[in-house]
Amino acid sequence: MAKFLAMTKITKRYTLTAALPYANGPVHIGHLAGVYVPADIFARYLRSRGEEVLFVCGSDEHGVPITIRAKKEGVTPQQIVDKYHSIIKKSFEDFGISFDIYSRTSSKTHAETASEFFKDLYEKKEFVEQVSEQYYDPKAEQFLADRYIVGTCPVCGKDGAYGDQCESCGSSLSPTELKNPKSALSGETPILKKTKHWYLPLDKYEPWLKKWIVDGHKSDWKTNVYGQCKSWIDQGLQPRAVTRDLDWGVPVPLKDAEGKVLYVWFDAPIGYISATKDWAKETGKDWEPYWKSDDTRLLHFIGKDNIVFHCIIFPSMLKQHGDYILPDNVPANEFLNLEGNKISTSKNWAVWLHEYLQDFPDKQDVLRYVLTANAPETKDNDFTWKDFQARNNNELVAILGNFVNRAVVLTHKYFEGKVPSRGELNGFDTEIIGQLVTMPEKIADSLDKYRFREALGYYMDVARLGNKYLADTEPWKLIKEDEARVGTILNIALQVAANLAILGEPFLPQTSLKLFDMLGMDKLNWESAGKDELLEEGKQINKAELLFVKIEDKEVEDQINKLEATKLANLEAAPQKDEITYDDFVKLDIRIGKVISAEKVKKSKKLLKLKVDTGVDTRTILSGIAQYFEPEDVIGKQVTVLINLAPRPMMGEISEGMILMSEDADGSLQLIAPDKEIKPGSVVS
Ligand code: MF3
Ligand code: ZN
Repeated sequence: MAKFLAMTKITKRYTLTAALPYANGPVHIGHLAGVYVPADIFARYLRSRGEEVLFVCGSDEHGVPITIRAKKEGVTPQQIVDKYHSIIKKSFEDFGISFDIYSRTSSKTHAETASEFFKDLYEKKEFVEQVSEQYYDPKAEQFLADRYIVGTCPVCGKDGAYGDQCESCGSSLSPTELKNPKSALSGETPILKKTKHWYLPLDKYEPWLKKWIVDGHKSDWKTNVYGQCKSWIDQGLQPRAVTRDLDWGVPVPLKDAEGKVLYVWFDAPIGYISATKDWAKETGKDWEPYWKSDDTRLLHFIGKDNIVFHCIIFPSMLKQHGDYILPDNVPANEFLNLEGNKISTSKNWAVWLHEYLQDFPDKQDVLRYVLTANAPETKDNDFTWKDFQARNNNELVAILGNFVNRAVVLTHKYFEGKVPSRGELNGFDTEIIGQLVTMPEKIADSLDKYRFREALGYYMDVARLGNKYLADTEPWKLIKEDEARVGTILNIALQVAANLAILGEPFLPQTSLKLFDMLGMDKLNWESAGKDELLEEGKQINKAELLFVKIEDKEVEDQINKLEATKLANLEAAPQKDEITYDDFVKLDIRIGKVISAEKVKKSKKLLKLKVDTGVDTRTILSGIAQYFEPEDVIGKQVTVLINLAPRPMMGEISEGMILMSEDADGSLQLIAPDKEIKPGSVVS
């Protein structure tokens, strides 16, 4: 194992957790880039190194957003989570995320585990009980979660702010700050009512949190993670309620807690433990060492919005419970944006994994590659379809695919598909091999530091090395004069390809398998990487198969169009104008006309000069549509014309009316015409 890991402690096994996705929507590329792809790379890497790894995940099925979604769709919360749990589970499977178990928090195991955990802390008198006044909806007869209260934002004055946040100005709020609060359930004004809750006294844990994180993890946690924790601790920690008045969740296991459930952020991380128990039951293993043994390294893969829960709150729970180990590291990522905008489940601004898999059923590795090469490790990043296409075509196809293909094809062409003998090596050969043997450690070093994009870069350097070797030695030119030399070159090229198969497994598992297959090899582990004699002389290899294919413009254009359609669907119509009377309206003389001729107006980009038969007469109208229509597009078309607008001079001409248009959300213009041709001069009223 890498040096700096070995220094900290002896590790016998790894427990890797990936944030439990909320079962209120499918998984998208933001989730993948932030959490699941890096976690999966790490799990596969450790397994390849022969480590004992348990990689757990599952659906997070509690919390208010799920109850809100259920209300909106007129179904039960259980129906919502059933639906999304199966979509999410299947899409992870089809994508090839190698969880040892994908569980869910509405399971019986989880309810038991979470209640026991709560009871344990309760019996240790860890919680502070506190009665406070909270908003209650007398009509719906229930306390209102923050999200269920809407009102006027005290900061920006806009309506529609939620009890926890105003989405117009972004201020975080508490429900009692809202002006004119209303229940989202009934529309009633809520009343304040007393209710008892249990709090985790984070303030009490501050000293050890400081020691553990601020002093203890300054050098091994990522700066973004460490920085967020430190700033939380520096601001001073407050007790946090771990129960809620809600009818969806794990019931609070106490007598005087009717109608109360555990706060979702209390129960969800315990879901990692429940998932481990489920896995142990299925496999006949013991779950406890994975959570309780000091020689286990516990790692949480998450997105940045989960940092405080995984670095401060959950560790505090584990620590106070006393039987559990604490996370060794929490490699959280920043966010991925999509085509310049924040990914949003509610706005449908996302590339959904299950849809990607429908559109690109055998391109799992391409998405893994793009999301890793562009991973939001230290700052937010942007996913674009053009970049997706470019990385596929210019990197996977042109570098990795091309190198492997040349090595395999030439071996078949010149040596009947048998690995040629090594022969004498010259200085260039030794140099190439010298570089090859250093690569596995370089990649491993980056992975050990959770620098996945850097690691992938080094991996591609191996392919670049192979490509350059063939380009510089030009075996296709040498074959006539020196077959033995060509044998040496291809032998070395094939050893590089074999290394690509081993080293590629964590990043591009499908491709790695194909490559092992093509080379006629059984799967090898990391310890074999860096060797230059993985393929024996005379060994028969299989025919070349393309590892990657070019992605055409049309394929990404379809995806971009899909997003454009979402954008249009999300656009709100312009607000209504001030009221007018019928008399105001009848002053407008609007007719159907027909365009007789059209020409561009010199020195104007915008204007077309039209002759229009209005039924009343034929007149000249200048219309600002030249950016959207060529003259021939409009000649002969029926149009709607306002004919009693006072004539206006424009660009040295007089315009005697106005063509009515409708502007689409993207700013493009549409003519308005009757749905079948009618007589010019017909009145519009
Ligand atoms: N469901 C949460 C989210 O998507 C993550 C929960 S992680 C867990 O942000 F640890 F609480 F499970
Ligand atoms: Zn506001």
